Amino acid sequence: MDSNVRPASMQRITTAALAEDFINEQIEQVRQQVGNKKVLLALSGGVDSSVVAALLIKAIGKQLVCVHVNHGLMRKGESEQVVNVFGKELDANLVYIDATDRFLNKLEGVADPEQKRKIIGGEFVRVFEEEARKLSDVSFLAQGTIYPDILESDGVKAHHNVGGLPEDIHFEGLVEPVKLLYKDEVRVVGKALGLPENMVDRQPFPGPGLGVRCLGAITRDRLHALREADAILREEFDNCGLNKTVWQYFIAVPDMKSVGVRNNKRYEGWSAIIRAVNTTDAMSATIEEIPYNVLHLITKRITSEVEGINRVLLDLTPKPVGTIEFE
Ligand code: XMP
Repeated sequence: MDSNVRPASMQRITTAALAEDFINEQIEQVRQQVGNKKVLLALSGGVDSSVVAALLIKAIGKQLVCVHVNHGLMRKGESEQVVNVFGKELDANLVYIDATDRFLNKLEGVADPEQKRKIIGGEFVRVFEEEARKLSDVSFLAQGTIYPDILESDGVKAHHNVGGLPEDIHFEGLVEPVKLLYKDEVRVVGKALGLPENMVDRQPFPGPGLGVRCLGAITRDRLHALREADAILREEFDNCGLNKTVWQYFIAVPDMKSVGVRNNKRYEGWSAIIRAVNTTDAMSATIEEIPYNVLHLITKRITSEVEGINRVLLDLTPKPVGTIEFE
């Protein structure tokens, strides 16, 4: 039987009890597969890699080495959460690499979106490879591959995700405990493993991170403004419950300034663009309505709390004709 095909008899994991059964089965399987050898995992903090990490920590404890590369393009608080949840609460064997300067230096002056993605993806693989090489006794590579990844590509998540495979390092095998699960099932398993809700229910976030939302050539000050504005948007969506109904929502900040007034003085600032969409498969997307009072509050907070931003705009473009992201 092809291990990459979900058997028709496999029950959909919808409850904590079913998740427990799945977790126990996987713990056994992983222990059998890896014995007393070490396993390496690129832990981005996204749903899939986080659930795999929590599962493997349960199965093999410190034999799992998690590497979290902070490329400097994470949302506010995300890398900190990875360190807190995995490094501290779950006491994982976690290597945290702050590669912010390395990525931002490489990206300096690069405005072309494809070029930016290539730099971020390529640099990610290089940083991860360097770390993998330092850990000479690691035999297996774990991945957060899920079933849609197998259905959509040839099963290697790294094709569309930043989380690249170290190509010139030989592993005995891959450990992919959630590869036959759909996203909603991965979330149920994550909750049963005790991961925080905001980690398990996290909205999709592109591998190149805020790099594709800081439009044009990335500068540190504009990236900082984008991160702060995005944190306000997320906070207000949490406060009014829109986080439960909107599939993906974020801020983008173009490389464009306009004139405004602040404290009776001319004030040039960037514009923060709000995007909030609903979709089932990300192939097409509709615009989600945001109540005016919420928009006013978000606008007021962003323009008064975030240095460098003097306007807030709302994007009403569905996909098609727009894409979900801007770059
Ligand atoms: P677009 O912009 O193509 O996005 O309409 C569709 C979905 O894919 C996400 N996205 C990415 N995810 N790496 C990823 O892992 C990427 O490079 C990437 N680019 C876009 C996007 O956030 C949306 O959910």
